[in-house]
Amino acid sequence: MYLHAALETLSRNGIEKLQMERLRKTLNHCQNSPFYRNRFEEYKLSPEDIKTLDDLKRIPFTTKTDLRNNYPFGMAAVPLDKTVRLHSSSGTTGNPTVVLHTQQDLDQWAEAVARCLYMVGLRKSDIFQNSSGYGMFTGGLGFQYGAERLGMLTVPAAAGNTLRQIKFITDFGTTALHAIPSYASRLYEVMLQQGIDPRDTKLRTLLIGAEPHSEAQRKRIEEMLGVKAYNSFGMSEMCGPGVAFECPEQNGMHIWEDYYIVEIINPDTLEPVADGEIGELVLTTINREAMPLLRYRTRDLTRILPGACPCGRNHVRLDRMKGRSDDMIILKGVNIFPIQVETILMKFEELSSNYLIVLSTNNNNDEMSVEVELEELFTDDYSKLQWLTKEITRQLKDELLVTPKLKLVKKGSLPKSEGKAVRVNDMRNH
Ligand code: COA
Ligand code: AMP
Ligand code: ZN
Repeated sequence: MYLHAALETLSRNGIEKLQMERLRKTLNHCQNSPFYRNRFEEYKLSPEDIKTLDDLKRIPFTTKTDLRNNYPFGMAAVPLDKTVRLHSSSGTTGNPTVVLHTQQDLDQWAEAVARCLYMVGLRKSDIFQNSSGYGMFTGGLGFQYGAERLGMLTVPAAAGNTLRQIKFITDFGTTALHAIPSYASRLYEVMLQQGIDPRDTKLRTLLIGAEPHSEAQRKRIEEMLGVKAYNSFGMSEMCGPGVAFECPEQNGMHIWEDYYIVEIINPDTLEPVADGEIGELVLTTINREAMPLLRYRTRDLTRILPGACPCGRNHVRLDRMKGRSDDMIILKGVNIFPIQVETILMKFEELSSNYLIVLSTNNNNDEMSVEVELEELFTDDYSKLQWLTKEITRQLKDELLVTPKLKLVKKGSLPKSEGKAVRVNDMRNH
């Protein structure tokens, strides 16, 4: 039932004692990071000032902007020759974020993912297929190493090519699949087109996450594919998957408190919210070597569920994510900031500054279209417009990693918004 029984079933007191021990170590270790050394000096803080878990509040938050400003290696707390991997966010507009790992970090990460997979009943005898992008997407290598650690036969199918995914599921007898929820629906549709009843396959367990989804969507996926689907939460800054995961009770995601100290704050006042209220998740890593993060503002909105979980784990449970406190969009498991779109569009003098991003679902495929107004007096030469469409689309794809549909429209035809422009119209049906 438990992969790491002693850690998973720690009492509340036991968790807090371990957290304090690890926090102390982390704070001392942070003095090796140029970023945190300066931060501590600036705030006239020293690791000894933090005597209780409550004292953590004296430390300022760390934000994505800090990571960007210290691109690429300014956050590192170990010399580069001790690091063995980096993951970077997409995009070239502004500095992307970089997360560094030592071998010990990768081992800990694999253990965390293995713990999650074991928790939902997966064992050595399972065949595990992963439809996440590999490379920089942490859902790829993150699940890969966790699944291998449990000794499962793994199928690193990676993203895309739905027919091949289905062939692997049927031919290899895949029993467990990691897929983002919107892609699970796509798989179902293509299976039906192929005359395959998902219930005739060996697929029994689905791990879904990486994008917000509802309880109704989970139920639909379970019914469609004849599986149990478990919510999986993670983010690259915290390694990737394996941060919080549902147990067999399917009632909130246990966040591993031997790895993270959890706070929920009001994103406007930055003060803690009352117990059980929705706010922004703030995490402090307490087992990381290469790049510890103190009070990192995830921008994800959620709450801590009250009460004990019948599974016997006392690590608190997070409710499913309710949205973001910034304007990040997640499309096909890819994170996109509207400013990335805007920066590309602004490079073209043929375009005016008014644009709209429309997200929609077509045949169970999520899509993004970018509608942008042409400058007045610009040509109506069809071949020139065609060339322009192709070139902007190419540059957007390079920046975002997803392919948008581009619509060039006449000046004045997009709605003009009063005050802050509304740039995103999300019409996806999930
Ligand atoms: N996971 C797996 N496959 C996906 C997917 C996803 N999140 N989103 C789309 N796909 C599939 C599509 O169904 C399509 O396959 P098909 O035509 O055989 O059905 C194929 O990928 C290409 O998708 P398309 O929408 O035409 O291309 P795109 O250029 O807009 O997107 C992707 C390219 C899919 C490669 C890119 O969106 C991606 O890498 N997504 C995965 C991100 C990821 O893994 N995130 C981490 C999760 S933890
Ligand atoms: P990335 O760093 O690319 O892995 O993206 C991390 C982000 O994906 C998180 O900050 C969340 O916004 C989102 N995310 C990850 N898992 C989930 C989940 N289970 N439910 C909702 N959103 C999620
Ligand atoms: Zn539980």
